[in-house]
Amino acid sequence: MQWHRTRTLSLDNARVRHTQWSIVLKSSLPFIAFVIITANSIRASETIVITDFEGTDYGTWKTTGTAFGKGPAQGKLGGQMPVEGFQGQGLVNSFLGGDDAVGTLTSPTFKIERKFITFLIGGGGWADETCMNLIVDGKVVRTAAGPNTISGGSERLEPAAWDVHEFAGREATLAIVDQRQGSWGHINVDQIVMTDDRGSVPIVVPPAPVARNVTRELTVEKKLLHFPVKTGAKPRVVTVSVDGKAVRRFDIELADDNAQWWAPLDVSEWAGKKLTIVADVLPVTSKALDSLRQSDTLLDAENLYRETLRSQLHFSPKRGWTNDPNGLVYYNGEYHLFYQHNPYGWNWGNMHWGHATSPDLVHWQEHSEALYPDEQGPMFSGSAVVDWNNTSGFGKDGKPPLVLIYTAAGNPTVQSIASSSDGRTFKKYAQNPVIKEISGGNRDPKVFWHEPTKQWVLVLYVETPGKQHTIHFFNSPNLRDWKLASVTKGGIDGDKYLFECPDFFELAVDGNLSRKKWVLTAANSQYAIGTFDGATFTPELSRLTDVRGIGFYAAQTFSDIPDHRRIQIGWSQAPSPGMSFNQLQTLPCELMLRTTPDGVRLRREPVKELVALRDGPDQASSLEKFRAELIELRAEIEPGQATKFEFNLRGAKIAYDPKTQEIIVNGHRAPAPLVNGKQKLTVFVDRTMFEVFASDGLTYVPIPFIPKPDDLSVSVNVQGGGDATKQFLQVYQLKSSWIEK
Ligand code: FRU
Repeated sequence: MQWHRTRTLSLDNARVRHTQWSIVLKSSLPFIAFVIITANSIRASETIVITDFEGTDYGTWKTTGTAFGKGPAQGKLGGQMPVEGFQGQGLVNSFLGGDDAVGTLTSPTFKIERKFITFLIGGGGWADETCMNLIVDGKVVRTAAGPNTISGGSERLEPAAWDVHEFAGREATLAIVDQRQGSWGHINVDQIVMTDDRGSVPIVVPPAPVARNVTRELTVEKKLLHFPVKTGAKPRVVTVSVDGKAVRRFDIELADDNAQWWAPLDVSEWAGKKLTIVADVLPVTSKALDSLRQSDTLLDAENLYRETLRSQLHFSPKRGWTNDPNGLVYYNGEYHLFYQHNPYGWNWGNMHWGHATSPDLVHWQEHSEALYPDEQGPMFSGSAVVDWNNTSGFGKDGKPPLVLIYTAAGNPTVQSIASSSDGRTFKKYAQNPVIKEISGGNRDPKVFWHEPTKQWVLVLYVETPGKQHTIHFFNSPNLRDWKLASVTKGGIDGDKYLFECPDFFELAVDGNLSRKKWVLTAANSQYAIGTFDGATFTPELSRLTDVRGIGFYAAQTFSDIPDHRRIQIGWSQAPSPGMSFNQLQTLPCELMLRTTPDGVRLRREPVKELVALRDGPDQASSLEKFRAELIELRAEIEPGQATKFEFNLRGAKIAYDPKTQEIIVNGHRAPAPLVNGKQKLTVFVDRTMFEVFASDGLTYVPIPFIPKPDDLSVSVNVQGGGDATKQFLQVYQLKSSWIEK
């Protein structure tokens, strides 16, 4: 890579942005470029391209470390999301060797000859760690970083500019830095240009001065220590230590001044002790650590469960983010719902196992976190079983223990276990892990007791090299020692059949207990039906799905429910913007297998316990007057002559087209065949989602949706004649599952 010094254009009345100009350059058409220049007399100053990273090496730029390699990248590197927004073929991309590789790339000295330096930048947004610095007289005088600090985000490079006019005529160097390991530990840069006309390229806002390792000490006086959060603020890494030992470490979007909400950390186990709390970086003006508060109960809880976007029929955590349901189990007369939980943020991260219990699958009570991240990593998804025969030896006083089986997603990523005898406190097994890493992408163990072979079976998702998605089956006599029994292949990448979060269970076909089939499900709700001998699953039908909605993911069924009930809860990716909590768990549904004209299929019904939420009698006969926020609707339609049915529930539109036998839910189409000539529908409407069960439960359409607060009406409209609506319709107002009336 050589320095490019190029004549370019800044025309008086037909302004052409330097970026467009650079495209001309990068299409290696200097000759045409030259013609353009000569054809338009240059009045303003010329743009100087410092470098466009189009060569096979970095030329006179110098590297240290390994992250930058020997020369520019040509787009994304192995394991990276697609990289966009760079120009031409080449760019700086320090993802070489992944996020953990570090290094620097430094320019030779050059003279600042224009008012602005413009560039394209993307990747990690860590000040000082994934950034580009302008150095004058040995001092960093300008700096810029990418936009990303949390999971997700984008690898897109965006234009940015520094105003450097005060350094005119001075010698400078550029240093592109990647000193960060872990998530977003890389930087992408391209097309560095000096210009007097930056067009609309935004000037980089200089970061506020920061302090590192900001420390606060306090004595634990109450159960909870509250951290101020502002969703969208820069995430900080907070470490809490007791007696010099780090006991908690998490990422948190700390509010520097006024808290938008308070994230509680349970510190009761260190009562009376001194805690040292360190934030990795804070603006020098930040009041975040001074504002930490202690109390025995949640702060700002007057409105708890009454928040405008708190779903009233569905479980969501008091504070923070939830994704997958975990460890669903019936133990000591209670249903346990563990769930992926970020207690300190509105977005995914810091995976804990949150915990709630219910006597009836309808009313949930949240408890303290069950599993905290530890040296083995964050606590990813898994399952729970009751060890009736105390095969694990974890049981005490003749009581069968509850055993949790989870993924510890550190490096290596392993499977571990924890146990409990009270269903409230959980002890990790001292000899964890129980299954060592098979590949970095192995996770989400689901365990059950296989009575015919009298052993435990563990079903594990394993992404093997080449992005092959597989399900590994293990056997164990005691939940501690596991032996690989078989592997079922579930497709390659892009065809994520049998993907993460597998579940595996046996169901009676058409309720006939002497005719059972095994069902293997995946996070995306595709499933296979087949036979299982305790070691190997033999699919007979595969790539099936009954879920046709939006954002339903990672569902799991309860273990150890009496009466052969197979009840499933899934994660609904329904956001609650502006709240101190985010996402929720779907209504529990009972799963069954039914013979249909297409073969055996899963069908589901919202559990019968939900009847407890009905607030008064059926209102179908007076729909014109009906007004309710939370609604259950049941309909059974024989279409007759009708060409279309439409239900409108608080603005959620559910239409049925008898001709195509499709249900159209807020514009989203799903096949919904008539069953015995009828369309049987059940709908539940809540504050951030609604769930539709069509075709007598063969089609399930959950949809995130925030109804308008003042639209409380329900209407039914039949087109094409007939009095079909009168056939069977029930409409109920529901009450909150959280708040007693
Ligand atoms: C699915 C998933 C799991 C993983 C968990 C982490 O949503 O990616 O595979 O265990 O979420 O939160």
